Amino acid sequence: MKIGIDKMAFATTDQYIDLRELATRRGVDPNKYTIGIGQDRQAVVPPTQDIVTLGATAAAKLLTPALAKRISTIMVATESGIDNSKASAIYVKHLLGLNDFVRTVELKEACYSGTAAIQFARGLVAFNPQETVLVIATDIARYGLNTPGEVTQGAGAVAMLISAHPHVLAIEPTTVAYSKDIMDFWRPLYATEAIVNGKYSTNVYIDFFLQAFTRYQQLTGQTLADFAGLVFHLPFTKMGKKALEGLLGDRTDAVAQRMRQQLHASQVYCRQVGNLYTGSLYLALMSLLQNGQVKAGDRLGLFSYGSGAEGEFYSGIVQEGFTTALNDIAADLKTRHQVSIDQYERFFNGRLGMKSADRQFDLSHDRRPFVLAGQQNHQRIYRRQK
Ligand code: COA
Repeated sequence: MKIGIDKMAFATTDQYIDLRELATRRGVDPNKYTIGIGQDRQAVVPPTQDIVTLGATAAAKLLTPALAKRISTIMVATESGIDNSKASAIYVKHLLGLNDFVRTVELKEACYSGTAAIQFARGLVAFNPQETVLVIATDIARYGLNTPGEVTQGAGAVAMLISAHPHVLAIEPTTVAYSKDIMDFWRPLYATEAIVNGKYSTNVYIDFFLQAFTRYQQLTGQTLADFAGLVFHLPFTKMGKKALEGLLGDRTDAVAQRMRQQLHASQVYCRQVGNLYTGSLYLALMSLLQNGQVKAGDRLGLFSYGSGAEGEFYSGIVQEGFTTALNDIAADLKTRHQVSIDQYERFFNGRLGMKSADRQFDLSHDRRPFVLAGQQNHQRIYRRQK
């Protein structure tokens, strides 16, 4: 039985900043951001958007009324939790208007947990092939204003349906997970921004990739030549290049060139949006499927990484019909508008954060389908606008 990703959809906010403008404001050479880090634009998050509204928006793009009735479980993978107890999946389920006989849960392990959700969903579908599981990887990457990590922020959600009728990617049985207790990035309960040892985390990422990929090859007998392309978790596009070059070294043969070209195709949307934490690998997959040289039957390798740290390498076979099973991301990104660095900083400081006071946001400037209207009696108030 094939099990895998049946449909995918991506959603981000309506606003972005140009990173050349941010570089100028921070007194940095713009080439450092666009070439050294590999990012051009970054999603800006107004206070009226959060992981719930972004996740619901992505999911609404792929759900038809018939599909909505088939959802048995919603798993929200995030490291931008809005509550220490209640799962964001319950809010998402309510906003989507799904029936109450649905299991709802939230998962956490930094940027990795979207992959854990997919693997758990595979198990549920294997138990009962009638089930369709909705996995949503949704995050707001925040490092703080004027910090080294600021250029690697971003926001967005990728929603995926996991079923026994995959039209995007049939996941293959062998997967390699690898975890170690490492302090490269973490966010204590009292902090709104992460504590990060950025350079260390890039080195751990590369090491975990090489460990997991080597083991995958030992277990399957496959080599790089068996893959049409590799897809990486992209906290910033240069990270994927560092990992791939760590594997290729000075290789210039046809397989190595193919891997470099496909990596380039997988980076297109990340360059425009920034880091999605849990969703970044899956936005890279969508980017490769829409911008790369990929056809049904091709094998793709996926490397997932979450600080703390956990990595996983797994593979899947591209399915017939994948082009129509994804939303048109290039078209959606064209509808965004640029905001100034001042506006971005006001939004950055204006969100609910850890404050307990009641607040009511002005919704007149947010035309997204789902909005966070404010906070009342310690409860977040969400609205469906369309
Ligand atoms: N033109 C072109 N490239 C330039 C440049 C310029 N004027 N100035 C610097 N660069 C290059 C550097 O050579 C470096 O390239 P390299 O990594 O290939 O060596 C790159 O830009 C970054 O500059 P550097 O000064 O080394 O980094 P930084 O101190 O600004 O921090 C991160 C970069 C990624 C570590 C930081 O943004 C961060 O901490 N991000 C969050 C953590 C993260 O995303 N970790 C990833 C694993 S999950």
